[in-house]
Amino acid sequence: MAEKFEAVRVSEHVHWVGAIDWDIRDFHGYSTMRGSTYNAYLVEGEDYVLIDTVKAPFREELMSRIASVTDPGDIRYIISNHSEMDHSGSLPRVIADVQPEKVYASPLGVKDLEGHYHMDGVDEVKDGQSLNLGGLEFSFIETRMIHWPDSMMTYLPADRLLFSQDGFGMHLATEERFSDEVDRAVMVEEGTKYFANILTPYAPVIQKLLARVEEMALPLDLVCPDHGPIWRGPDEFAWIVGKYHEWCAQEPTMKAVVTYDTMWGSTERMARAIEEGLRESGASPVVLRLRATHRSDVVMEVLGAGALLVGSPTINNTLFPTVADLLTYMKGLKFRNLVGAAFGSFGWSGEGAREVAGYLEQMKIEQVDEPLNLKFVPDDEMLEQCRALGRKVASRLKEVAGRE
Ligand SMILES: Cc1cc2nc3c(=O)[nH]c(=O)nc-3n(C[C@H](O)[C@H](O)[C@H](O)COP(=O)(O)O)c2cc1C
Ligand SMILES: [Fe+2]
Ligand SMILES: [Fe+2]
Repeated sequence: MAEKFEAVRVSEHVHWVGAIDWDIRDFHGYSTMRGSTYNAYLVEGEDYVLIDTVKAPFREELMSRIASVTDPGDIRYIISNHSEMDHSGSLPRVIADVQPEKVYASPLGVKDLEGHYHMDGVDEVKDGQSLNLGGLEFSFIETRMIHWPDSMMTYLPADRLLFSQDGFGMHLATEERFSDEVDRAVMVEEGTKYFANILTPYAPVIQKLLARVEEMALPLDLVCPDHGPIWRGPDEFAWIVGKYHEWCAQEPTMKAVVTYDTMWGSTERMARAIEEGLRESGASPVVLRLRATHRSDVVMEVLGAGALLVGSPTINNTLFPTVADLLTYMKGLKFRNLVGAAFGSFGWSGEGAREVAGYLEQMKIEQVDEPLNLKFVPDDEMLEQCRALGRKVASRLKEVAGRE
């Protein structure tokens, strides 16, 4: 017999019918050490409306939770807020099973569902449009590029509730469904990690959306994202909105991330000397060796830092693969307001640190100096050059962080 799952009541008309993925540890290259949830919601009016689905392997869990409320065949409408497969993966089979009268998505969502599943028959809803479905009003807010072109949010005025898809979400598997039941420190960490890895490139668009939502002054008792806990109560939502303002602005702090890899320990010795210099001059360094730290954890540390220093040895005329991995990943994330420096140990040609500097330049990170490229194992005098680099970054950081 198939396992049974229960829905969780969220508000007068809404039930959570999502899935808990306790096991996932890699979400498209982002390390999810606390798993995730794929949240879907069943709205109960005179008819049933399903908001989003779950990743394909979790379809039975979704259907079982729906069945704990009503016969899934009672679903008359489906709204797809986001076509990415963690939310739409079950959609084609759910449509086949429940035969809804209508499926709605944003105009770009219609195209993207077609691109994924080669399906037609999805109706588009436009920004600002409202629909009456089963006696309840639903209104739609397009949120293009937060974080895909098709992304939208759906507001249910009857329950003062916003379905915010990936916005305000985090990867966190828990039995608790509401933010006020979850350890705040865990939410700070997972919320920061989600923003850093998924939303950083769109910080300017998010700032506009936050301003728009504030202007709309929607009454909000609940904000229901597609991953992680539901924000219950205005104070809870205000808390995460405050964090979003902070993460978007990326105001420089005195924190300095020093990240590197090494083959024989020389670049590592440089990193430790740089750390000393940073600390001596008032910065707060965090040192992360790349073969021990996942790229998604490094970027989590960078969100909230004012400086990024990256070190690579030279290997076969280029930089070390883990460093290239991080920099390729970070380039797309478009962090703002960072100062930094490149460093590394080499033997005879020294491309490693120079290529790092090239990446930092592309990332618009203000480099305080030329790349510090040192031959083989650093001696005391060379280590002093590293400390001096650390001190120089810290002084620049004091200027940009307004600490002087
Ligand atoms: C497999 C291998 C390839 C290397 N290729 C180069 C190279 O092309 N150019 C260069 O300047 N140094 C090269 N080196 C030398 C290293 O850059 C040098 O040993 C450096 O001190 C290593 O720093 P680390 O101890 O931080 O790994 C190579 C070393 C190894 C092990
Ligand atoms: Fe997504
Ligand atoms: Fe998602």
